[in-house]
Amino acid sequence: MLSWDEFDKEDGADAAVANKATAQLADMNIDKLDHAGGAAALEARAVVASDSAAVARAKAALDQLDIAEGLAELEGASARVAVDEKRMINCRADLNQLVPFKYDWAWQKYLDGCANHWMPQEVNMNADIALWKTPDGLTDDERRIVMRNLGFFSTADSLVANNLVLAVYRLITNPECRQYILRQAFEEAIHTHAYQYCIESLGMDEGAIFNMYHEIPSVAKKAAWGLKYTRSISDPTFNTGTVETDKELLRNLIAYYCVLEGIFFYCGFTQILSMGRRNKMTGVAEQFQYILRDESMHLNFGIDVINQIKIENPHLWDASMKDEATQMILEGTQLEIEYARDTMPRGVLGMNAAMMEDYLKFIANRRLTQIGLKEEYPGTTNPFPWMSEIMDLKKEKNFFETRVIEYQTGGALSWD
Ligand SMILES: [Fe+2]
Ligand SMILES: [Fe+2]
Repeated sequence: MLSWDEFDKEDGADAAVANKATAQLADMNIDKLDHAGGAAALEARAVVASDSAAVARAKAALDQLDIAEGLAELEGASARVAVDEKRMINCRADLNQLVPFKYDWAWQKYLDGCANHWMPQEVNMNADIALWKTPDGLTDDERRIVMRNLGFFSTADSLVANNLVLAVYRLITNPECRQYILRQAFEEAIHTHAYQYCIESLGMDEGAIFNMYHEIPSVAKKAAWGLKYTRSISDPTFNTGTVETDKELLRNLIAYYCVLEGIFFYCGFTQILSMGRRNKMTGVAEQFQYILRDESMHLNFGIDVINQIKIENPHLWDASMKDEATQMILEGTQLEIEYARDTMPRGVLGMNAAMMEDYLKFIANRRLTQIGLKEEYPGTTNPFPWMSEIMDLKKEKNFFETRVIEYQTGGALSWD
């Protein structure tokens, strides 16, 4: 437990120096903005006899600091922001002012994500380790499912994190959405950590698992499909602001939120959670259950962002863009169907590749309608209603369907 008394005792002298420095920084150049306190700031900055040469240089350097120039280098203007100036993309208002909120749903998702915080080491892996090391503890088909999924997911969450941080973040010009993107990026790091923790706990061949996205075709194709959308907008010279570049960002958001996080995760989640329901690999399954809860929120955030961009820029959502978006979702569905066939050459865990195909078409219909497109697999039903119960499809509703978010607290997950 931290206590301020300990800081005072141990670091009293240092703290006094630090406090003085902080006060000086706070008052720094205040005379240029507000005359109250200006004289005191200048007095604090005056070079005195006890100053070392380095301290004198530091004070002199601050005399040269031009606050107006510093602010101009930041994104947007430095004026106070009105809520109706805020925009999801191509916003010219100051992005360092979090409030007033325009998109309350984004801030709420940030709060909900924080309320769901969890760490991989909290999950007990002992039963999994014992089962994995028992020669006939699992069938070969079951082992294939565990390994393929750890192989796919251990890389996929890194792809998502890199896409967010290196490509999407700077192009989404809204501070409350950026706040959620920062939270999401950390959650992706936790997910990669969770897969690494499973791989290490089970004593798997780490090189083989982490290289499946190079070496196993059904995994490599999904990774390559996502990466091409990162590549198009991660060039530091890429900027939105034209119809074509705005559409390029929209394609990236559809690729990552609707397809990668919205379709590519669903065969693997279903397989691993089915294992957990059968009391096998319950630690791995619990990790996946926590991850699925986070992922449902990532997906819903992305869908809200896409729909908001459409509302603010209706000219982007023309017939050709709708066609492209539909095709992207169908390509993703097809790749996931191929992944289902590769991971389940035979029936296993009460499911088979044909049932998974129906499930993926059911999910694809949902992704299409969530961004305002028509279903492409009419009449498809969900063969795994228990999946909906585990993640509770009610919670999957996004802002444009309902404001109700039912998530709470990190610690309580149950198989009931
Ligand atoms: Fe993730
Ligand atoms: Fe995610």
